[in-house]
Amino acid sequence: MAVLVTGGAGFIGSHTCVELQQAGYDVVVLDNLSNASEVSLQRVEAITGKKVKFYKGDIADRKILQEIFDNEKIDSCIHFAGLKAVGESVEKPWEYYNNNISGTLTLVDVMRKNNCKNIIFSSSSTVYGTPKEVPVTEQTPKGTCTNPYGWTKWMLEQILSDLYVADNEWNVILLRYFNPIGAHKSGTMGEDPSGIPNNLMPYITQVAVGKRPELGVFGDDYDTPDGTGVRDYIHVVDLADGHVKALKKIEENAGLKIYNLGTGTGYSVLDIVKNFEEATGVKIPYSIKPRRAGDIAKNYADASLAKEELGWVAKNGIKEMCEDSWRWQKNNPNGYEG
Ligand code: NAD
Ligand code: UD1
Repeated sequence: MAVLVTGGAGFIGSHTCVELQQAGYDVVVLDNLSNASEVSLQRVEAITGKKVKFYKGDIADRKILQEIFDNEKIDSCIHFAGLKAVGESVEKPWEYYNNNISGTLTLVDVMRKNNCKNIIFSSSSTVYGTPKEVPVTEQTPKGTCTNPYGWTKWMLEQILSDLYVADNEWNVILLRYFNPIGAHKSGTMGEDPSGIPNNLMPYITQVAVGKRPELGVFGDDYDTPDGTGVRDYIHVVDLADGHVKALKKIEENAGLKIYNLGTGTGYSVLDIVKNFEEATGVKIPYSIKPRRAGDIAKNYADASLAKEELGWVAKNGIKEMCEDSWRWQKNNPNGYEG
């Protein structure tokens, strides 16, 4: 039996394909390559020595979905496909709701018609909004999102939960990722953002490799130890491993489950700069800029439920995250197309 990995050519999806294949699963990827390169899948194959079955197409396309179910023996789906740029989602709300929500509705409809009712969904810590207290547990109430991207995650959690309530044959695992960074140890796979990076670590590595002059630190007057925003950064390979563990849980008929995937440790922007400099020996010039709209002061996970129920813990620390992000960027200054 095989796992359908939507968005499998992307950053987290491609790293998850490696871990899945290494754990003995057959992988079938569906990706429209709107934010990825097929080269990432060649790198997966080079690492694992196994073929990745690839379908280039859209999750909203019933025809290609049915073709996959006809050709392959799919018994579960890890659903990464989606648009994820926060700022762009404010500019293009329709495109975000259409791609992420309508696309997922089509995907799950074709799944159930083919009697495949096992899904792991990429959610985000963004569903907590501005939490009253940190660390957040899965019991922490969902909050108010600051952008359409966040709302798509919020709503899709609800939609997939309601599907389960109506039909208990579904197994639905919602994984709330904190801030994925890092890259595969080989230095051949990593995050490859198009244009100016929105997220902190890809921005830092682009400064380090000389593509950008300096980092702008968005605000130093938050209620945090050094005034800069605090987040829970998690190594992408640990995150990928969390999906393998979640798949095992699905095999035990999990029902509906929600797990935070984070390390439980918060680092500020300046902590990350310092750790990056120490781990790589490269200096990161920065200047303090105004706060970024929609940002919160601090968020980090209580990930003890994933430990108890999935037997999952993040193994890599901040040093490995910085070293591995840098190895990827240094070896591939222009990403997969370089
Ligand atoms: P990514 O952009 O690298 O991967 C998403 C993939 O989905 C891309 O390869 C893209 O081409 C594909 N895709 C988009 N729309 C599609 C469609 N309609 N049909 C087929 N393929 C489509 O992003 P990522 O960082 O790997 O994130 C994966 C998932 O995790 C996304 O759902 C994202 O929202 C979620 N997530 C990411 C983060 C993060 O910080 N990276 C945090 C929380 C949640
Ligand atoms: C952002 C998204 C979140 C998404 C996540 C993916 C917002 C409001 N939230 O989270 O929905 O799931 O990305 O990882 O955009 N920073 C700088 N300078 C930079 C970039 C970032 O100082 O050039 C700071 C930010 O202010 C923040 C921290 O670094 O304090 C992390 O930022 P980022 O990597 O963008 O992640 P989040 O804002 O946590």
